[in-house]
Amino acid sequence: MRKIRLAILASGSGSNAEAIMRWAGAVDFAEIVCVGSDKRKAFVHERAKAFSVPSFSVVKRKNEERAAFDKRLLAALEAFAPDMIILAGYMKLLTPQFLEKFPDRVINIHPSLLPAFPGTDGYGEAFAARVKMSGCTVHYVDAGVDTGKIIEQTNIPLLPEDTLEDFKKRGLAIENEFYPRVLEKLLVNLVKERK
Ligand code: GRF
Repeated sequence: MRKIRLAILASGSGSNAEAIMRWAGAVDFAEIVCVGSDKRKAFVHERAKAFSVPSFSVVKRKNEERAAFDKRLLAALEAFAPDMIILAGYMKLLTPQFLEKFPDRVINIHPSLLPAFPGTDGYGEAFAARVKMSGCTVHYVDAGVDTGKIIEQTNIPLLPEDTLEDFKKRGLAIENEFYPRVLEKLLVNLVKERK
């Protein structure tokens, strides 16, 4: 049976990307076909190399419109013929023109219990609000900021003695375990539907 082809997009360190590449290496129904980034120097490229996954960068040009940027990103991705796009710390919004090419096939992880604390600083905002319990959310991506349909959430406790760094560290470890687990469930269902 043909494996489900996953492309990862990431802008930063890529700990979630690494967790997903490790997971994909251990299952027989999915493979990571590429890692794409909007940052040439993102550490995620090193992680991709360690897993022998091809990686590429599509960097925004000065004054480039979002639609034009996404068109170039799409062209780079299409060379790898992905079935799904997995966002793992990808810091740009995707345009409707991009998303319509992958209906219900773009997934993201966000570090809060959405709809609380959307945007670029989920950990920082939950920490500042001194919530007792935060979490992370795996969701479908739409054109809004972390507004797509929620797939699954899990808790990340914020302890009274935590610094923001402690909280993020605990959170990322939970994300790294949770994201592949949710993906696995989602893809197993896809595989069943195909049969
Ligand atoms: C994670 O906290 C993820 O939830 C958010 O961006 C961060 C990426 O971390 N979307 P990493 O690059 O996967 O280590």
